[in-house]
Amino acid sequence: MIDALNEIFSAARVRTDAESLTAWGRDWTRSVAPAPAAVVFPEQASEVVALVRLANRRGFKLVPSGGRTGLSGGAVASAGEIVVSFDRMNRIVGFNATDRIVRCQAGVVTRVLQEFAADQGLYYPVDFASSGSSQIGGNIATNAGGIRVIRHGLTRDWVVGLTVVTGSGELVECNHGLTKNATGYDFRHLMIGSEGTLGLILEAEMRLAAPPEPQTVMVLGINRFGDILEVLACFQAALSLSAFEFFSELALTKVLEHRQLRRPFARAAPFYALLEFDQGETEQATAAFEACLAQNWVEDGVLSQSESQARDLWQLREGISESIAPFTPYKNDVSVKVSQVPQFLVEVEAVVSSRYPDLEVCWYGHIGDGNLHLNILKPDALDVSTFYERCHRISPQIFEVVERHSGSISAEHGVGLLKRDFLGYSRTRVERRLMRQLKAVFDPNQVLNPGKLLVADSG
Ligand code: MLT
Ligand code: ZN
Repeated sequence: MIDALNEIFSAARVRTDAESLTAWGRDWTRSVAPAPAAVVFPEQASEVVALVRLANRRGFKLVPSGGRTGLSGGAVASAGEIVVSFDRMNRIVGFNATDRIVRCQAGVVTRVLQEFAADQGLYYPVDFASSGSSQIGGNIATNAGGIRVIRHGLTRDWVVGLTVVTGSGELVECNHGLTKNATGYDFRHLMIGSEGTLGLILEAEMRLAAPPEPQTVMVLGINRFGDILEVLACFQAALSLSAFEFFSELALTKVLEHRQLRRPFARAAPFYALLEFDQGETEQATAAFEACLAQNWVEDGVLSQSESQARDLWQLREGISESIAPFTPYKNDVSVKVSQVPQFLVEVEAVVSSRYPDLEVCWYGHIGDGNLHLNILKPDALDVSTFYERCHRISPQIFEVVERHSGSISAEHGVGLLKRDFLGYSRTRVERRLMRQLKAVFDPNQVLNPGKLLVADSG
């Protein structure tokens, strides 16, 4: 295998040392041990095409790898695969100010794209805590969401063109950056969110927007879970939100400890909401806050007075994932329609408190999008595999609630390896069969990201 790889890549771009295999063989998940055979670092499209064709001829399996910040094991190589890292395809290769379209290689880091946009007087709005290391190719492969979906949508909404190599090694240009294109099946959208199972993304044309007004952040202390949605409705009636996030007191405690921060206000509340909106709407926000106080939905609040205060308040929410990582959390990333959230929460909470009475459960998420992150924290005394097996056994009960509400078992982290066995709670048998049939069209020899997203046969 290595000799064959060396015919495509110079020796320095094929790694087989133990440290590299571990580092590039996994993402942020820790429940599956990495065991790839090699990691390769293509620099151009022709090398990726040659690699995929080689994999087809020789029966090699390929796992695409971006910033490796995934939380569902979508980029884990655990069975002798070749990891295809896009770290060296990390250039912005074109920009057109009239079209407001930037062309990036797959390995461009999200923050680099955001900064490039700002340098042009424009804005790339998709953002999340991992923006400093996640890559555009991975964001597209998982249709990443993040903290501003409520106003700006998902990664999908910003992709206007894609260059991909299919599983049989054919180069396909999808949509060519067009705004309007009514010429049949849009392969771009099929590739977005396909988790590297249909094609390898080489380049993307991304749309940029006009920059928003300066933003103001408000953090509110909330007494009852159910009231969070009342607060959302009250603010949405008064102004246009660019974020509406929530977190529990346990989540806040973990961030305060981990980052050595101060509480947003003296009194602890069971839950918190973080809102972001245009500075020009501060008056409307203050009036909505007072209305919420009068209803007893909110018990305290703080409003940022400067950009740096806004950044500090965001840390309380964005620091959660990193702060709980040392507890090897078992992650649930579920969603329902916003209107279903109150009832859904009551039902999920009943499962959680009966099945995890002895464990810390950390709640947070993008509640304005109906997306909840429910993280079960591993106690020190339990080893990782016993803990994960226990959580895995309990997951179906949570997913039955998701299914009853026609929700999603993976709202934004993807299915990968970790949620694959549960796909049936969100996608019907017919849909899963159609997915496998599509896989057979784009990747007939099953060389791309094996075992991710779909169970191979009838599951
Ligand atoms: C977040 O919302 O913080 C991210 O999705 C990461 C996580 O869920 O841990
Ligand atoms: Zn999230």
